[in-house]
Amino acid sequence: METQSSFQIEGLAGERKLTGEIKVGGAKNAALKVLAASVLFKDELTISRVPEIEDVLRMLEALSGLGVVGRAIAPGTYKLSTDKISQSDISPEVAKKMRSSIVLTGPLLARFGRVSFPFPGGCVIGKRPIDIFLDGYLAMGATVSESETGYSVEVAGGQLHGAEIFFRLPSVTATETFMMAAILAKGKTVLKNVALEPEIESLGRFLISCGAKIEGLGTPTIMIEGNGLLSGREKIYDTMPDRIEAGSFIILGALAATDLKVSGCDPVHLDALLGALRAAGVNFETGVDFVRIFGNEDKVFGPLELKTHEYPGFPTDLQAPMAIFFTQVAGQSFIFETIFEGRLTYLEAIDRMGAKARILDSHRAIIDGPTPLEGKEMESPDLRAGLAYLLAGIIAKGQTIVHNAYYIDRGYEHLTERLAQIGVNIKRLTRAD
Ligand code: EPU
Repeated sequence: METQSSFQIEGLAGERKLTGEIKVGGAKNAALKVLAASVLFKDELTISRVPEIEDVLRMLEALSGLGVVGRAIAPGTYKLSTDKISQSDISPEVAKKMRSSIVLTGPLLARFGRVSFPFPGGCVIGKRPIDIFLDGYLAMGATVSESETGYSVEVAGGQLHGAEIFFRLPSVTATETFMMAAILAKGKTVLKNVALEPEIESLGRFLISCGAKIEGLGTPTIMIEGNGLLSGREKIYDTMPDRIEAGSFIILGALAATDLKVSGCDPVHLDALLGALRAAGVNFETGVDFVRIFGNEDKVFGPLELKTHEYPGFPTDLQAPMAIFFTQVAGQSFIFETIFEGRLTYLEAIDRMGAKARILDSHRAIIDGPTPLEGKEMESPDLRAGLAYLLAGIIAKGQTIVHNAYYIDRGYEHLTERLAQIGVNIKRLTRAD
């Protein structure tokens, strides 16, 4: 029996009512990678502030299939024992559900000399090829074969060798995957044109603290000297705050709050968003670990031209929440999604709610505002667009139901409870089939 759940929201009909404090959780895209890094450890490691989300459960399931024993020793804290790890085939069921399982391929190939995995799944956000991964494995001495169901990668002699790899695009997961694989490779690896997302640096620093030799973190070139299995006894990785979750709550504050404190975040990671909101006329202040947004009914925001970009540019994962903001500003805003092709189709449902959004092509859209929104029933297509639908529902008039809560649960923990605390009228509907 499968349970299906949806979110039901009674909207604020354009009124500004939210107030109080909402706390940001640990970053999904940091915790997942440190969990995957467990494959590089000879003993154990502990990870705290792990968000309670579907993707984390899937990653733990994938690791358990490989022989990594994970147990929760406190809420949000997991100890992973890696001395019994014995397997390098990634469970097809898990991999199909979660594209980020691709980050396991590097550490597994490096540790066992072979890895097999199915064609990766994940969110429906357009084309997401894996050529950069396959090219990198070839450069490190592996051979790749493709079957009807997926890939098998092997390295003769069992050990990858260091290589110089130039990424044709600064891919986040490819940077993390090769940084990890290189730790167990023979000799030096130089990764060029790497991604600069702060989750990568956070992962790298933790790996260094456990014995890895990595230089150049936070710059476009990372150098890794293969140095053997890592040791994580007495080591704890404290997951950095989720900048996408923080950003989504800040946008919600700009849309519907009188005074909202988004706490437990790192505003330094949010420069692009905060700069855009400031330019639109949003009033906020920042502290070391919070952003506080102030709003009043009379304030009119101005339109923006938004271009998504690799970090430190505007994150693609905040593009959909920002589009909801654009439906409420006076004038025409422009969105240029440069990272993913086809990550704009969610706008069709926003139009059904009364927005005036027009998709120009697979990368560009314009939104005319302000338009009042009306509650509707909709299906969440992926986690970020799903969250955007919730934001739209919160400001709309009447009731909104967002189905496929599963997608949203992949990335945001205890959402109904946290949103209810700041004044959102939201509940979860669960139906057993
Ligand atoms: N790309 C290729 N070939 C490859 C790999 C990537 O063409 O082999 C392309 C992608 O199709 C895309 C571009 O490179 O056009 C950059 O994508 P990237 O590889 O950086 O994305 P990712 O690593 O798959 C991570 C996050 C995403 C986030 C992007 C961009 C994780 C698990 N995922 O994905 O997060 O949108 O970086 O910042 O870290 C999310 O959390 O909702 C999410 C989708």
